[in-house]
Amino acid sequence: MPEGYTVAVVGAGLVGERLVAELRRRDFPLKELRVLARSARSSVLAGETFEVGVAEPEAFEGVEFALFAGTEGEKGAAVQLAREAISRGAIVIDNGSDFRLDPEVPLVVPEVNAESLEAHKGVAANPNCSTIQLVVTLAPLAREFGLKKVVVSTYQAVSGAGRGGVEALEGGREDAFPKPIVGNAIPLIGGVGEDGYTTEEKKMKEESRKILSLPDLPVFPTAVRIPVHTGHSESVYVETERDVDLSEVLEVLGVAPGVSFSGDAADYPTPLEAAGDPKVSVGRVRVEGNAIEYWCVSDNLLKGAATNAVQIAEYLAGAHSGVTSASGALGARA
Ligand SMILES: NC(=O)c1ccc[n+]([C@@H]2O[C@H](COP(=O)([O-])OP(=O)(O)OC[C@H]3O[C@@H](n4cnc5c(N)ncnc54)[C@H](OP(=O)(O)O)[C@@H]3O)[C@@H](O)[C@H]2O)c1
Repeated sequence: MPEGYTVAVVGAGLVGERLVAELRRRDFPLKELRVLARSARSSVLAGETFEVGVAEPEAFEGVEFALFAGTEGEKGAAVQLAREAISRGAIVIDNGSDFRLDPEVPLVVPEVNAESLEAHKGVAANPNCSTIQLVVTLAPLAREFGLKKVVVSTYQAVSGAGRGGVEALEGGREDAFPKPIVGNAIPLIGGVGEDGYTTEEKKMKEESRKILSLPDLPVFPTAVRIPVHTGHSESVYVETERDVDLSEVLEVLGVAPGVSFSGDAADYPTPLEAAGDPKVSVGRVRVEGNAIEYWCVSDNLLKGAATNAVQIAEYLAGAHSGVTSASGALGARA
């Protein structure tokens, strides 16, 4: 293997730190690893000391993969700097929501739709954390049985809201959530639209349809924040196009890529067990007619963010010969 890529991680928060850890753990071919944030300082991330640089256009000189994990929105890192990174030759992989529904941008969970990366124009988007674990489990059911309808309720960890969310659980911070999180369950993540759905719920609807290439799939989410540190849980009800047997559902889930399933329908994975595991754990599988119900849990900072982003980078890096320049990778560039 040649010397590797120059990679920039933008954001030194919870996801930024997991990105560093996953690049190392998965042995991504690195020539140089830069960490950029709002301010320059020396920081220890995943046990490694970095001279964190300021995220500004010049910081992307020579960068081949820019993994964004800063804030979202007009003043956020990706909107401000993604084009700057691309114009300097980088491929951007964004963890935020700014580009996810752009028809020009592939929204990718590699176990489900890695092929959509072929058409990238310099940016690939990582889906919302709750969406990722949902589609990893839905995709094999869709392929085998066809999907008619999905109803999902989430139980989401505070680390999904970044360092501020963790500070709220551990005490001392009151502005991270709309109501106190300690000893509570808050069925409101993000703002509420005129249709009554929250932004988190809309992400789950729209992103799932895009990733699964099922634009009309009825998806009915309820997203709830609970006082768990890390690991999102979901209770999922799926209607399939034909009646199914429990045994065939267990068989499909048992071999599904990215899914960790013991084969015992009664297993009940929990967030404490899922934290640190890069796969999506499934349990409590029940079947009646054409309805499948199950529970799934995943580390929102790993498969829900960093692991998925690094998998995308691996796909892009492995899909062309040599590692000297990512600018020759897959498809047209912006
Ligand atoms: N947490 C999750 O489970 C999760 C899952 C999927 C996706 N995401 C997305 O990933 C992103 C990061 O989330 P997080 O949980 O890591 O948040 P976080 O812990 O709050 O950290 C945010 C980091 O972004 C940096 N940042 C903010 N604005 C920036 C800018 N304009 N330029 C450069 N850096 C900037 C901050 O820099 P300073 O340190 O200098 O302040 C901080 O290091 C968000 O878009 C989030 O929606 C999060």
